[in-house]
Amino acid sequence: MAKPVLRTKLCDMLGIDYPILSAGMGPTLIGERTGAPVELVVAVSEAGGLGVLGGSGFTVDELRDAIRDIKVQTDKPFGVDLLLPKSVDMSGTNTDANQVPLSDVLKSLPQAHQDWVNKVKADMGLPDTEVMVRRNTTVRRPKEAVQVCLEERVPLFCAGLGNPGFMVSDAHARGMKVLGITGNSKNARRMAESGIDLLVAQGHEGGGHTGRIGTMALLPAAIDAASPVPVLAAGGIGDGRGVAASLAMGCIGVWIGTRFLATDEGGALPVNKQRIISSTDEDTRVSTAYTGKTLRASYNKYHDLWADSGLDPLPFPTQVMISSALLAAFVEAHQDDYVGGLAGQVSGIIHEIKPARTVLEEIVEQTVEILSRTMPESVTLK
Ligand SMILES: Cc1cc2nc3c(=O)[nH]c(=O)nc-3n(C[C@H](O)[C@H](O)[C@H](O)COP(=O)(O)O)c2cc1C
Repeated sequence: MAKPVLRTKLCDMLGIDYPILSAGMGPTLIGERTGAPVELVVAVSEAGGLGVLGGSGFTVDELRDAIRDIKVQTDKPFGVDLLLPKSVDMSGTNTDANQVPLSDVLKSLPQAHQDWVNKVKADMGLPDTEVMVRRNTTVRRPKEAVQVCLEERVPLFCAGLGNPGFMVSDAHARGMKVLGITGNSKNARRMAESGIDLLVAQGHEGGGHTGRIGTMALLPAAIDAASPVPVLAAGGIGDGRGVAASLAMGCIGVWIGTRFLATDEGGALPVNKQRIISSTDEDTRVSTAYTGKTLRASYNKYHDLWADSGLDPLPFPTQVMISSALLAAFVEAHQDDYVGGLAGQVSGIIHEIKPARTVLEEIVEQTVEILSRTMPESVTLK
């Protein structure tokens, strides 16, 4: 059967067949595999979409290796997503020690937070699981990580947090495109003015860090604010219905996280994938429990423990030390009710873990079906 055709301006900009990107997804906790690893990137790009590597949990050297690994496995375009701090100083070098035990880091945190972690562990009889905190990940070494992306001429550089405007001219000089992500229209305008090529507008429904505006309200506002920079929709898209709606609203493509996480290639822990496919649309929560910023994850009892603690979250990313200390112990103790990874409300329509290629092909087929057959028949215009 001939492959369906579904093209927008995004396909020409990025040299891809379908206007569908798998989102950059980092790890949920210290030591966990990234949510969007090389395998997922390769599968999505090979299937005609564009796979984006979740680069936030890698060291700078691992990032370079992963990029080279992708290039060995596919000659199709791909992206790399990094979490950037508010401003990146591109001079100087970071000389922190590379690895420290999490138990040492915890000792430097406020006493109330230390006491709470210890109390939870004692109450639940949790093991003293040690995790190494890697201080040389791309989150802590953003300028070196950006430099690697520039040197490797990554086709699409994506800034999951922060404004990538500072590196746009260097990226363009190397033939790269730059994408920013926003959750509100004010930031959409700011990003657009910084010279980026593409903007992802992610609504409140989305998995991971999330803002306050729902996707339906955000998309038209972000499109207006970012014009003429084109916008991709994100947050709550799990099948062709979401893609068709996004294109109808004026987006040139979509950025899909949770649906691609629940695939054979998605990098989440098996327990987290299972939680996605067994969730209803009500089974995620937004909480500061994980990173200190508002973040959506599959509901689990860690959400309740944190809510009952009465503690203020530590600033991002310090709160990750608290959540990682407990999550690592929950995982080791097989306390699955307390484990749940980052995931969006769209979990409610995801019922099966499949190969990423199948997910992409089904989304494309359904989008084409809706736009070419269902819509013309279901809407009367004259
Ligand atoms: C497991 C997971 C990890 C994520 N990590 C990142 C990340 O490191 N960088 C980033 O830009 N966005 C991250 N996100 C957000 C996604 O890029 C994307 O915007 C979001 O998943 C879209 O909403 P959806 O889950 O409803 O598709 C993550 C999302 C999930 C589910």
